Amino acid sequence: MLELVPLTDGIGTEVRGIDVTGDIPDRDFERIVRAWTDTTILLFRGQRMTPEQHIAFTRRFGEVYTYTRSQFNHTDHPEILILSNLTRDGKPIGSAYSGRVWHSDGHYLTHPPIGSMLYALEVPPVGGDTWFGNMIAAYEALPQRVKDRIEDLKVIISRVQSRPYNYPDRPAPTAQEIAEWPDVTQPLVRVHEVSGRKALYAGGNVPWRIEGMPPEESAPLITFLQEFAVQPRFTYRHRWQPGDIILWDNRSAMHRATYYDHVAHRRLMHRTTLSAAQATAGAARS
Ligand code: SIN
Repeated sequence: MLELVPLTDGIGTEVRGIDVTGDIPDRDFERIVRAWTDTTILLFRGQRMTPEQHIAFTRRFGEVYTYTRSQFNHTDHPEILILSNLTRDGKPIGSAYSGRVWHSDGHYLTHPPIGSMLYALEVPPVGGDTWFGNMIAAYEALPQRVKDRIEDLKVIISRVQSRPYNYPDRPAPTAQEIAEWPDVTQPLVRVHEVSGRKALYAGGNVPWRIEGMPPEESAPLITFLQEFAVQPRFTYRHRWQPGDIILWDNRSAMHRATYYDHVAHRRLMHRTTLSAAQATAGAARS
């Protein structure tokens, strides 16, 4: 029987009593989607999915997004992005170091993905955990005068500037990438299109700027919001076990990978991503 159990007071729901590859009745699925929207992350433990089943389960939540130029897409299933330190024929099969600063996926896109589903296949005995933060809870806890101050502000997000923070192992952006990656502007307070609740959209450790504000005012305000947002009361650190799945709502969550010894240990994670396009009917709130 489906059971929805809070992960902490501030974020997340553990979904128990279902096999994600089986038939999940619509009524149960609606409760799962509601918990996702309300608490920003869902945890399913002890699951076994083939890549096809992973993609099929993701599709129940919306349209699957495929990274068009990622060299780390699964060879047979490009919808799956591989996060791993493993190699094949001497070449890395996945991205080993990504996401080690607080971020939301595709923050540099005009229409960022609405969610991501990460599935653990092999995990190191220590490290390689993932942090998640609830940006709705963070926004709601802000003092009213700060909410009033930031209500109509916009942040300018630079993919070029974010790159060395997100991917310290990769070379600096090329001239072509710089030309192809224009800055994007987003509201600092993001209204969730399903729940209508407001979430803080201030990025993580990445240097975002506030539109129309001098740097000496913008930088401390952004730093304050970023640090406020990742206090322990809004965050959860997941210690992975093989068979765990976490689905996060990218509209209301930030996340951050942690260090592990990539020489001594193996880590293999498969991630699917939900595109910003129209979510499925099941994901709409009645
Ligand atoms: C990510 O940022 O999507 C990766 C999280 C992780 O590998 O723990």
